[in-house]
Amino acid sequence: MVLYYTGTGNSEYVAKKIGEQAKDEVVNLFEKIKGHDYSEIHSTRPVVFVYPTYAWQMPRILRDFILRTSFTGSKCAYFIATCGDSMGNMPKYLKQLCEQKKFTYMGCAEVVMPENYIAVFNAPERNQAVKIIRNADIVIENIADVIKHNGTIPEKKVGAFAKASSGIINTLFYPLVVSAKKFYATDACIGCGKCVDVCPSNNVSLKDGKPVWGNQCTHCMACICKCPKEAIEYGNRSKGKPRYQCPL
Ligand SMILES: Cc1cc2nc3c(=O)[nH]c(=O)nc-3n(C[C@H](O)[C@H](O)[C@H](O)COP(=O)(O)O)c2cc1C
Ligand code: SF4
Ligand code: SF4
Repeated sequence: MVLYYTGTGNSEYVAKKIGEQAKDEVVNLFEKIKGHDYSEIHSTRPVVFVYPTYAWQMPRILRDFILRTSFTGSKCAYFIATCGDSMGNMPKYLKQLCEQKKFTYMGCAEVVMPENYIAVFNAPERNQAVKIIRNADIVIENIADVIKHNGTIPEKKVGAFAKASSGIINTLFYPLVVSAKKFYATDACIGCGKCVDVCPSNNVSLKDGKPVWGNQCTHCMACICKCPKEAIEYGNRSKGKPRYQCPL
């Protein structure tokens, strides 16, 4: 069973491709995560988690969901980390998660997809994004083949920078960087409420017809990238930047 979490669609794209090619069921975890639904998930096939990389690790919102949910049936787990550049030393922490959950770790694959973190970096324009995804297609096909045949995903060597990135930098990232304080809606806002609906952590609500942000943000970029009027800004960092949603 392929289970995915996504902010802007990259991981959904990858999950669906893997499901199609490995002939496996694909499930979007969005409603469960948003609804705090930790009911049992049963799968006779290995579970395949597909998700974005946040600061060289699995997003905490997903890790917390996995820790609280009971998984029955197959105890084999694959991990597919989509990223803009690198997953760092993520496998180390996935192995710890597997120990906690009594999963058999079957490996973690890195799939480089377009960057979506517009609060910090730039997302590519559509044409460039499509090129990146076409390159990823080859990687995805190989991963699907491994999963289909119950193989293990080979380990990659990690250097000192990757170790620090997934370690101390990830630890500092959440308290120092992840915050919704800089989000605001401009006069272009039409009060449609989409930003409320797409937030996995229920961190956006409408007040007098305009969004306001709470303190549960996980920086998924869904609200800012999915606003139909591009009416959301993140301080000055997002001004003039293309919003990103997986184009395929
Ligand atoms: C909060 C945040 C942190 C990110 N950290 C990393 C990172 O450490 N390494 C990386 O290569 N990409 C990083 N990215 C880029 C995303 O992992 C990448 O674009 C991913 O494919 C987005 O997936 P999605 O569309 O399914 O949300 C980050 C993006 C966000 C929003
Ligand atoms: S999605 Fe955009 S237009 Fe709709 S309420 Fe939110 S900010 Fe306003
Ligand atoms: S407030 Fe926006 S960026 Fe933060 S978790 Fe919700 S949708 Fe994602």
